[in-house]
Amino acid sequence: MGFDGKVVLVTGSTTGIGEACARAFAEAGAAVMVQGRNVERGKRVLHGIRGMGVKAEFLEADVREAGAGDRLVAETVARLGRLDVLVNNAGILYSGTALETTDEQWNDIMAVNVNALFFISRAAVRQMIKQGSGNIVNIASEWGLNGEEGHVAYCTSKGAVLQITRCMALDHARDNIRVNSVCPGEIHTQMVDDILNAKGGDLEANLKELAKGVPMKRLASPDEVAKCVRFLASDEASYVTATNFPVDGGNDATGGAFP
Ligand SMILES: NC(=O)c1ccc[n+]([C@@H]2O[C@H](COP(=O)([O-])OP(=O)(O)OC[C@H]3O[C@@H](n4cnc5c(N)ncnc54)[C@H](OP(=O)(O)O)[C@@H]3O)[C@@H](O)[C@H]2O)c1
Repeated sequence: MGFDGKVVLVTGSTTGIGEACARAFAEAGAAVMVQGRNVERGKRVLHGIRGMGVKAEFLEADVREAGAGDRLVAETVARLGRLDVLVNNAGILYSGTALETTDEQWNDIMAVNVNALFFISRAAVRQMIKQGSGNIVNIASEWGLNGEEGHVAYCTSKGAVLQITRCMALDHARDNIRVNSVCPGEIHTQMVDDILNAKGGDLEANLKELAKGVPMKRLASPDEVAKCVRFLASDEASYVTATNFPVDGGNDATGGAFP
């Protein structure tokens, strides 16, 4: 699964699943563009990756900004020479029913999770067509496959990611560009801690309770998602496109809460 000579852009790679993806591709020899808004965390990830002996750059950018998609791709090509793999990981979550979700929250979730992902993908596809090949892996969510109480905006945005995946994969199959998504379940990152902290109570106890609902009875580490992302972007998955890969400890198969 070597990525020597390949260039990978991971959006939202200053922490969590994105950071793990950036490191996983670096481990396999890729040059990596780390991206996000938090400069301190971005530089920490950057130094870690450079310490692994591969080329890496950090791009401070808010994916919601007008023209961010074109800029991210142009900067990656300018600094690292090409773009072989785009991992669309940057994502945000607001909890709330329709009645609790504000216009601002709805628009913000769509701006990051849907609009930015589409604009960056479109810019990436233009570059990949010029190069003759490419790979896009979108980080969707198990909550894009199924509904979840109190998360209408987030679930809607992740459902849209699955459709962008399918449609762009079909449109660009003949361009030698594969587009897939992964649907993580319960992955232990800041995002999950934030959801649990918002509910109140003891975080450790809440994490244990969350794990009880997963068939494998545990949360995953971000690395476990990153390895699946890397597989989908590798030649090992050369005939895989337009698909969605749940990384969820069996959650999706239960069709509901697991006893
Ligand atoms: N954790 C889970 O259980 C889980 C489950 C299913 C799906 N997911 C999805 O996996 C992805 C990563 O989640 P995570 O749990 O690793 O979340 P996280 O720890 O909150 O990290 C989110 C990342 O996205 C970046 N980001 C957010 N808004 C941004 C913006 N406007 N512009 C640029 N970057 C932005 C953040 O970077 P900065 O703060 O530096 O901007 C950060 O690096 C998301 O798409 C999430 O929806 C997570």
